[in-house]
Amino acid sequence: MASLTIRKLDESVKTYLRLRSARNRRSVEEEVRVILGELIEGREEPLTPFAAPPATSTAPTPQRTGAVSEASITLIIGGGIAAYKSLDLIRRLKERRIEVRCVLTKAAQQFVTPLAASALSHERVYTDLFDPQSEFDAGHIRLARECDMIVVAPATADLMAKMANGHADDLASAILLATNRKILLAPAMNPLMWNNAATRRNVAQLQRDGVVLIGPNSGEMAEAGEAGVGRMSEAVEIANAAERLLRPPVPRPLAGKRVLITAGPTHEPIDPVRFIANRSSGKQGFAIAAAAQAAGAEVILVSGPVDLADPAGVTVRHVESARQMLEQVQAALPADIAIFAAAVADWRVANEGEQKLKKTSAGMPPLQLVENPDILATISKLTDKRPPLVIGFAAETEHLIDNAKSKLARKGCDWIVANDVSPATGVMGGDRNTVHLISRQNGAKDGEIEVDSWPVMTKEQVAIELVARVATRVTDTSREPSS
Ligand SMILES: Cc1cc2nc3c(=O)[nH]c(=O)nc-3n(C[C@H](O)[C@H](O)[C@H](O)COP(=O)(O)O)c2cc1C
Repeated sequence: MASLTIRKLDESVKTYLRLRSARNRRSVEEEVRVILGELIEGREEPLTPFAAPPATSTAPTPQRTGAVSEASITLIIGGGIAAYKSLDLIRRLKERRIEVRCVLTKAAQQFVTPLAASALSHERVYTDLFDPQSEFDAGHIRLARECDMIVVAPATADLMAKMANGHADDLASAILLATNRKILLAPAMNPLMWNNAATRRNVAQLQRDGVVLIGPNSGEMAEAGEAGVGRMSEAVEIANAAERLLRPPVPRPLAGKRVLITAGPTHEPIDPVRFIANRSSGKQGFAIAAAAQAAGAEVILVSGPVDLADPAGVTVRHVESARQMLEQVQAALPADIAIFAAAVADWRVANEGEQKLKKTSAGMPPLQLVENPDILATISKLTDKRPPLVIGFAAETEHLIDNAKSKLARKGCDWIVANDVSPATGVMGGDRNTVHLISRQNGAKDGEIEVDSWPVMTKEQVAIELVARVATRVTDTSREPSS
């Protein structure tokens, strides 16, 4: 099998892998494995930042007929008095749109019946390792792998001892040994059994092996007059723990923040049918709006005329001209963060024709240009409603860094995202961007100007990275505000 050296990959591929693996909380190597698996399966995960990570770990969950659930669990019920609570656990998991397939040990069947588990799970229940009906196609391996997670409840002292020592002499222990899925144990036993040195050793070994435990809780035992640590966690607690492992909370670093973004070109009318425009597609600003929304922010996007669908969950104000854009930007304040990615026309026609200008023998109509309002400078210099973090974009065709540095100083904003929009770069209207983030050291007003050059990325990747930096900045309370 060939091995892959991540270091030798293209910068953009490396960046994509880093972002994707960070988002999915996997190592880069694990992420590569998942991507290859997806390619073989013919399904590729789109790069949606801060989206919920897939429930599966390394292998895809096979489709089951009629299944509407998003995740599935193999629930192993051990032979303890708390087994009755596991019937409730089946319901609790199903309420959370998790499919449950139950395995009952021989001892478990002394406490609850396969019939009850089957009726509640609406699935066949498995009890026997040597069942010819399920073993004709290695049923124990399927039960171990065709799920997103294995839950053992109650996890008896005996079952944990078998697991810790790698036994596989019945269906439950064979599944637990054959799985590559996360395992969640809900131990339940008498406090003396729980505190016994053998159980302590087994628990410690299982934790070292990466098994997750919930409980046991402290309280009254089934045995009259006995109390202590050993009660199985309640069904709701176990279901919540399982759900947290299956669907880890999505990071929402910008929750509670209001982000104002501008995007696209502006159209400056010459007459009712003609206008001055530029080649901006709005893709970068729209990608930033989507990334900020995915990071939990309330997003207001003020967009010039573009050919893009409004990003889901974002409030979009559509405008034409620079003056309308400024109006909408001012109306959207206050905001915590303002990102001005729009390519606003510097000039507009002063003598805009009320009617369509006609060709005349007198020659070309004299078009007089006047300066448009400078949205970035206007908002950066506000005294009352200035957003604490104002970011401008500098689209340049020459002397990119120098021009961007002087723009940072001139406009009074906090950061400038500089990009080279020379036709050869294909940035205007294209899907990729190469940007340089210009900021002041420590965010201080008089701090030295720093330039952070990013590799070529897709506009979505630039957006994710920018939003990640913004999130770090706004959550970094140790940093002095720049204004
Ligand atoms: C009434 C009764 C209740 C029991 N409750 C528990 C218990 O809560 N926890 C436990 O570890 N063992 C308990 N046991 C002992 C287990 O049933 C026994 O160790 C069994 O072999 C465990 O089987 P398993 O590995 O399939 O879970 C109990 C036994 C009886 C008779």
